[in-house]
Amino acid sequence: MKKVKLAFLGLGTVGCGVMKVLRQNAEMFKRREGLDLDVKWVLVRDKSKPRAVDIDPATLTTDAGTILNDPEIDLVAEFMGGEEPAFTYIRKALMNGKSVVTANKEVIAKHWHTLEQEAVKSGAGLYYEASVAGGIPIIKTIRRSLQANHIQKFMGIINGTTNYILTRMSEDGSDFNTALKEAQRLGYAEPDPTADIEGLDAKFKLSILSTICFRNQVPLEHVFCEGITRVTAEDIAVAQQLGYGIKLLAIGKKHGDRIEARVHPTFIPLSHPLCAVRDSYNAIFIEGDIVGNLMFYGRGAGDFPTASAIVSDIITACQNENGHHRTGMDGAPVIFEKDWISRY
Ligand code: NDP
Ligand code: HSE
Repeated sequence: MKKVKLAFLGLGTVGCGVMKVLRQNAEMFKRREGLDLDVKWVLVRDKSKPRAVDIDPATLTTDAGTILNDPEIDLVAEFMGGEEPAFTYIRKALMNGKSVVTANKEVIAKHWHTLEQEAVKSGAGLYYEASVAGGIPIIKTIRRSLQANHIQKFMGIINGTTNYILTRMSEDGSDFNTALKEAQRLGYAEPDPTADIEGLDAKFKLSILSTICFRNQVPLEHVFCEGITRVTAEDIAVAQQLGYGIKLLAIGKKHGDRIEARVHPTFIPLSHPLCAVRDSYNAIFIEGDIVGNLMFYGRGAGDFPTASAIVSDIITACQNENGHHRTGMDGAPVIFEKDWISRY
């Protein structure tokens, strides 16, 4: 059994989700992955704030140095959000040889190159599956399962908050601000929701996805971005009368040696599968020259979907450091029902 000491930076929507999953499935991680995952420190701003999980007050700290300079900490999981001080903390952790798992699309989109260099120098790992499309395992899939392809094009809905707002406006006639407040209450929105509604969150994710798909750095200044703040109830009603829905799409295309990357509200035929993507769900179409068309669909925001991606990265990080690959077989007893198939 490998004992791993973790530290969290942040204990909000995502941090509490990750803590719950680590506790809920602790026995499975021991049995199946050979990992005993122990959260030693949690960085927060306000130690007295009520949390969505029970937490031993002794694990809470407001001093990042306690974590970053603790030689016992193997891995730092960052879900505090924003560019700073998150970037500085992630960089320091990598420099100190600690692997980092992050959900922070802003930091990855802006500082990927610097962080990757630090990781290579120190031999630590940098993982960011949760930075794009919440629970949809899109980064690992493109990196590990689509290497045979040139990806020429992808498009999708990669922001849950705006998709939730547009769904509420078109289906229930909700007004924009009411729908935004509900998205915040449900834990979908960014700490500053301007990033969602102005399209910035999708822009960060599009920059990351384009870079991974096209294997060329796609800097933020080359990504066109318009959010949904100018979409009105009237726009939605007119679109529907004409047989369209309005969705905030992120589109990446490679034309020879040119790359196009844009985020904006788009009219989509009501019969198109992307129009059926409701609430905080995300969906991404990818066109590969070998595999053809693929579509990925799932919950793109919220505590558990995001925790699913983060915990998977934590396990991958621990196993890579361990230098061995487990089969991932579950050792728990199962019951085989011989007539199971005939019942369905
Ligand atoms: P929250 O606002 O709910 O949580 C942020 C946490 O970070 C809080 O616990 C806060 O402490 C702590 N924090 C923030 N700044 C500091 C600081 N300077 N020093 C110490 N602690 C700090 O955000 P979320 O959990 O929703 O999001 C976190 C990250 O995850 C963001 O990068 C976001 O983009 C990303 N993400 C979010 C998803 C979601 O569905 N919410 C999905 C995918 C990614 P305190 O509680 O004391 O204020
Ligand atoms: N605020 C983001 C969204 C969280 O709504 O998609 C997931 O990255």
